[in-house]
Amino acid sequence: MVKASAAKVSAVRASVVQPEPWRIDPAIHGAGLGLRRGLMAPLSEHADAVASAVNFMEVAPENWVGLGGRWKRRFAEFSDQYPLVSHGLSLSLGGPEPLDMGFLHDVRHFLRDNDVRCYTEHLSYCSDHGHLYDLMPIPFTEEAVHHAAARIRQVQDFLGQRIGIEHVSYYAAPGQQMSELDFVCAVLEEADCGLLLDVNNAYVNSINHGYDAAQYISGLPGERIMYVHVAGHFDEAADLKVDTHGSAVTDPVWALLSHAYAEFGVLPTLLERDFNFPSVPELLSEVRQIRALQSAGESAAGGAAVR
Ligand SMILES: [Fe+2]
Repeated sequence: MVKASAAKVSAVRASVVQPEPWRIDPAIHGAGLGLRRGLMAPLSEHADAVASAVNFMEVAPENWVGLGGRWKRRFAEFSDQYPLVSHGLSLSLGGPEPLDMGFLHDVRHFLRDNDVRCYTEHLSYCSDHGHLYDLMPIPFTEEAVHHAAARIRQVQDFLGQRIGIEHVSYYAAPGQQMSELDFVCAVLEEADCGLLLDVNNAYVNSINHGYDAAQYISGLPGERIMYVHVAGHFDEAADLKVDTHGSAVTDPVWALLSHAYAEFGVLPTLLERDFNFPSVPELLSEVRQIRALQSAGESAAGGAAVR
């Protein structure tokens, strides 16, 4: 693992505003749901059932910044009722081009205007002289650790708050010099940022790259986890899974979520479903499954503190 020097780490910590970075706002607890435009109408039709199952919602700022009129009013219906977290798509934290400060300016306003409790992004890149429209893996190298960490610190300094980074699913590892786990841990340490744990990404990567997903999760710094993602994937072959967010969560992924709770305590957890939407009752049954595993995790811990 790449370790930053103690002096460097303390200098990084001194440069960021908040002293308790990865203690997410207590309003974010229990089970959450990703709010997609295609889900808004059906969720509104089942408003009471949704309210009884869902504690918080996640939005992508790219989908909502600058919107007015009908969509703004629809968004307000949800932002007024649910605590929000924000999960970005296009910041390209690992990319070669300068960060889009104009976009970050809009994000800062979006977070404040909508009382968004935390902002997370992908540990990947999606632009290189234009948008690549996909999340590309950063090479697992020491140079890339420094590059990504510096950009994360730049974002944190600009926003005046810690952000969380999500370890992404990847299908090739060009120029790999260290393990994925060592890479992610090194970036977290050097950037002194939070972690968005995605148990489906861990599962997909573990199959595609031949490692033990539970061991991978146990190796992550649990104290940095802001919240957790759970999602479905596509089974292309026995040794190839594709992270699609377009189907139901599978049993091995639920098992990894339980493993994460056993390892780190119960954490706020959000269901990502991006297309091929099922009926709302079916969707909520998955949200309730999160709650059931959280209850089991609390019982197993003997009523220990729940985040
Ligand atoms: Fe995710």
